[in-house]
Amino acid sequence: MNLEQRVAIVSGAAQGLGTAFAARLASAGCRVLAFDINPAVEDLPGVTGMVADVSRREDVEAVVERAAGMGQPGVLVNNAGTWKRTPVDSSWQQALDDWHEIMDVNLKGVLMLSRAVVPHLQQAGGGHIINVSTYYVLPAKSDGTNPPDTDLYGASKWGLNGFTDAWAKYLANDNIKVNGLCMGAVDTPMLRGLFPDGELPAELGAVMQPADIAEQMMELMASGRSGENVGAWVGEPVSIGTAPPLHMKITG
Ligand SMILES: NC(=O)c1ccc[n+]([C@@H]2O[C@H](COP(=O)([O-])OP(=O)(O)OC[C@H]3O[C@@H](n4cnc5c(N)ncnc54)[C@H](O)[C@@H]3O)[C@@H](O)[C@H]2O)c1
Repeated sequence: MNLEQRVAIVSGAAQGLGTAFAARLASAGCRVLAFDINPAVEDLPGVTGMVADVSRREDVEAVVERAAGMGQPGVLVNNAGTWKRTPVDSSWQQALDDWHEIMDVNLKGVLMLSRAVVPHLQQAGGGHIINVSTYYVLPAKSDGTNPPDTDLYGASKWGLNGFTDAWAKYLANDNIKVNGLCMGAVDTPMLRGLFPDGELPAELGAVMQPADIAEQMMELMASGRSGENVGAWVGEPVSIGTAPPLHMKITG
């Protein structure tokens, strides 16, 4: 599918991976609508920036309406995500507060934005939905690396599997490809926020760069594949590869 002049929506694009996705799609000729709760999104070059919260229905509707006014939609990147430690023995009230904080963005936001965009993609004759996940959901290569005090973040990303799997199947006849990008450590403010003073520790090794993952996203879309989780691991080439993926099936 030629993405030239198609509209691409990227959530959580003020920094990190979202900024890289937006820039790469713009360089491919897309008209990019990048949104974020952080107003810095309005200063990104080469894209239309908009302040909006993916966890708020009225904001999502405003984003999709604005995108529709920019032309034919072709790409949705569900990138906005939030991460925090949620130990299983925290207080009951804390657990419920954390649930809303994480799930409203990482799952409900993806649900609302995708449901609102799908009719436009169907009308346009197809397109791509990219769900930004994590390598934790690829246990064959990531066994044991899921931090045990991040149950809610982990659950939210495993929840994405349900969306990717069901939507890929349901939307196949509409030529809408739905995939998950499941990466290990990428140098973004989210990753740096885990360490004192934002300094990445040497033992982390050479982490991946957001631009690497953005390139992998383009490769994935060009491949025409759908219904897959594609991994990216520190120390390995960031590519979808030619071999069948470890997880040909996301569920089942
Ligand atoms: N960096 C990594 O190593 C890594 C690894 C695996 C997965 N991921 C995933 O990649 C995605 C991007 O992560 P990142 O590292 O760039 O994070 P980041 O925190 O640096 O950037 C996330 C962006 O999302 C925005 N955002 C948060 N809540 C929002 C909301 N309600 N509405 C709109 N925007 C919102 C933030 O303001 C921020 O600009 C996330 O889904 C994350 O879970 C990151």
